[in-house]
Amino acid sequence: MKKVLVFGGSGLVGSRFVKLNANQFDISAPQSQEIDILNKDQILKFTQQSNPDTIINFAAFTQVEDAEAQKRDKEGICYLINAVGAKNVAEVCKEFGKKLIHISTEYVFDGRKENSPYTEEDKPSPINWYGITKLFGEEFVAESGCLSTIVRISMPFSSFYQEKKDIARFFLEELQAGRSIKAIEDQRVTPTVVSDIAAALAHLVEAGSSGLYHVSSTDSVTPLEFAKTIAEVFKLNYSLINSIGLDEYNKEKKAKLLKFSWLNPTKFEREFGEGILHTVEEGLVLFKKEIDEQARNQL
Ligand SMILES: NC(=O)c1ccc[n+]([C@@H]2O[C@H](COP(=O)([O-])OP(=O)(O)OC[C@H]3O[C@@H](n4cnc5c(N)ncnc54)[C@H](OP(=O)(O)O)[C@@H]3O)[C@@H](O)[C@H]2O)c1
Repeated sequence: MKKVLVFGGSGLVGSRFVKLNANQFDISAPQSQEIDILNKDQILKFTQQSNPDTIINFAAFTQVEDAEAQKRDKEGICYLINAVGAKNVAEVCKEFGKKLIHISTEYVFDGRKENSPYTEEDKPSPINWYGITKLFGEEFVAESGCLSTIVRISMPFSSFYQEKKDIARFFLEELQAGRSIKAIEDQRVTPTVVSDIAAALAHLVEAGSSGLYHVSSTDSVTPLEFAKTIAEVFKLNYSLINSIGLDEYNKEKKAKLLKFSWLNPTKFEREFGEGILHTVEEGLVLFKKEIDEQARNQL
């Protein structure tokens, strides 16, 4: 059984990886209070003690709006965690010969690619500080010379995570409460059920592969279509869903949402097969199934 050390295991994506793969790998997931990725000595000592085969770094500063308030500040917490933290983890991996899987985002792109979703061949060009710091993180990982896989994911949504509301949970809870929502009608996105991301990562751990992968749903939607599919899958009231244009939505935002915020996972599917990742609608059906199962388990 492979030993996997996880940083960021309490977060939206990391927590699902840890739970879903608990029987497949020997996983240790120290809390940030125990191992702070800004403290290289702590990472070094823990890696030496636990001697994992693979380290997965989910740890990040993910508040995109708060990140924008730190723009160009290399002393700011966003840059420190997303760039310097990634560098620390990668350098420790290099020193101990450990395989690193580093999680990144579609926000490394500028969102202007309108004809087809971003592939691994597309050149990053981030437009907000969160994306810029995540790209620094990717570059530091590459420069460290460790054996690494960078996995870009997009709009993860989870039935399991209560601490932070992702887009699916937000739309669902508002519609269930009978409140109206505004969903963007002219943005293309690839929201991805977090269980698919966790399953895809397990394949990458097993294969011990390296390189760059986009891991996302296999098709794309507008947030408006996404909200309507949620209403359909959960049998909720469509009339509560209103549309809004991206430009109008972005007026309120410090960090602008990307117009084409989408990833193409074909490379992953070519190498690992179809059926691990799903369409957005299939992801929502799984999301509902997981919610229903949790409700049954609580009875
Ligand atoms: N959520 C999204 O929409 C999204 C989209 C695309 C890509 N991603 C990427 O996916 C990855 C996971 O995102 P997520 O949404 O799961 O993140 P999240 O829910 O915000 O969780 C962040 C995790 O990082 C940990 N962390 C923060 N600072 C740390 C530090 N100094 N040392 C050690 N751990 C630290 C947090 O621990 P504490 O809670 O203890 O602080 C938490 O476990 C990130 O790389 C993110 O950039 C996310």
